[in-house]
Amino acid sequence: MQNTNRGSFGGRLGIILASAGSAVGLGNIWRFPTEVGRNGGAAFILVYLCFVFFLAMPVMVSEFIIGRASKANTVDSYRRLAPGKPWVIVGFLGVLGGILVLSFYSVVAGWTLHYTISSLAYQLTGDQDYGAFFSNFVSNPWQPLIYVAVFLLLTHFIVARGVQAGIERYSKVMMPALLVIILVLMSCSLSMPGSREGLQFLLHPDFSKVTASVVLSAMGQAFFSLSVGIGCLATYASYFQRDVPLVSSAFSVCFIDTMVAILSGFIIFPAVFSVPGVEVDAGPGLVYITLPNVFNMAFSDVPVIGYLFSSLFYILLFLAALTSSISMHEIDTAFIHEKFHLSRPRAAAIVTAVCLVLGAACSLSFGPWEKIQVCDLRIFDLFDYLTAKFIMPLCSIFISLFVGWILERKVVQNELTNDGTLRLRTARFLILLIRWVAPVGVCIIFLNELFS
Ligand code: PHE
Repeated sequence: MQNTNRGSFGGRLGIILASAGSAVGLGNIWRFPTEVGRNGGAAFILVYLCFVFFLAMPVMVSEFIIGRASKANTVDSYRRLAPGKPWVIVGFLGVLGGILVLSFYSVVAGWTLHYTISSLAYQLTGDQDYGAFFSNFVSNPWQPLIYVAVFLLLTHFIVARGVQAGIERYSKVMMPALLVIILVLMSCSLSMPGSREGLQFLLHPDFSKVTASVVLSAMGQAFFSLSVGIGCLATYASYFQRDVPLVSSAFSVCFIDTMVAILSGFIIFPAVFSVPGVEVDAGPGLVYITLPNVFNMAFSDVPVIGYLFSSLFYILLFLAALTSSISMHEIDTAFIHEKFHLSRPRAAAIVTAVCLVLGAACSLSFGPWEKIQVCDLRIFDLFDYLTAKFIMPLCSIFISLFVGWILERKVVQNELTNDGTLRLRTARFLILLIRWVAPVGVCIIFLNELFS
């Protein structure tokens, strides 16, 4: 039976901002520059762009189709569209993926909250050992846990309020704020002495650096950054109205997400190249160890600018993390709310409680629980591995196969053309991408990852 009491997004702008909010997150501002730095700059970006538009975008459109055609949470969507078939497992994997991603994501988001507060409180200024600042904090048994809890409670508060009054309303405020902060930081960064070298690194590809592992990293980054594969965009699409054009909305989300990732590069690399001796390939510590150093050294003459730059940067990172975490939370809240007929706040409370326990385990794996390892991975890395390298690609393969081969052609056509009211010249090409290119492409990296 169709649930007619479900929430829905108000308008097209809300839909695009909420979906782009899901996509734009730590993946763009923390993970993307890290990967660009590690994998040689511009050439990596070009490979990444191909994956965004030829692989991840078709999967995103497929998720939109599944969500809007079924108007249900990610598990029930397969039950409705393919009753009695085992496709529902893909929905359950999404529910599991949502919990696991949110648990480890909250840990990094918690660090960001700590850095925002420390920066505002003038603790990230002056000549100090920022490596020690970071490792002392993450290995402390209690402090990071408190930040994980605060972050999850903020996420909970927004999701519990509902689709329009919570997710849409907050996304409409946070996303424009985020874009303004990006533009301010970028103009500041581009006026720094290393901007030429930074731009060179970002804009001049050196294809000799493109190896198999660079290609694989670019593909993994595209999927993670666009939030595809765990049913989070399908859940959002289940709240879309019938007149929303799915393909152009997916294109807008991919475009915004890619712009934010590249602009983050424009913020970070000119700054990093402005300080002699700082390495661009510092890995995940780039944002938490290298950048505070850069902010201090680059602005040692006018520390107040360093202070403003660093505070704004961590606020940006925090807002981006929050707009993404609400979408992960919503996958599971929608499922529990509809499956067990619990009120939305109660369903959200269950998700928050489970993530608190798992998030605490991830956080402790940087300190007292460091020795607890599965296949040489500590709990945090295990969750990251299971989701980004296993659940997301595997589900992406099945999502595109489902829409390309299983779902009735008529349903797909109706969703793509809004019941025949839109003319879509790219429909054939898109269906080709969904049927062949996306599943085969993702399958190749997935198998490669699995056996490497
Ligand atoms: N896309 C988000 C980011 O870039 C992460 C995310 C993954 C969000 C999976 C939802 C689902 O940070």
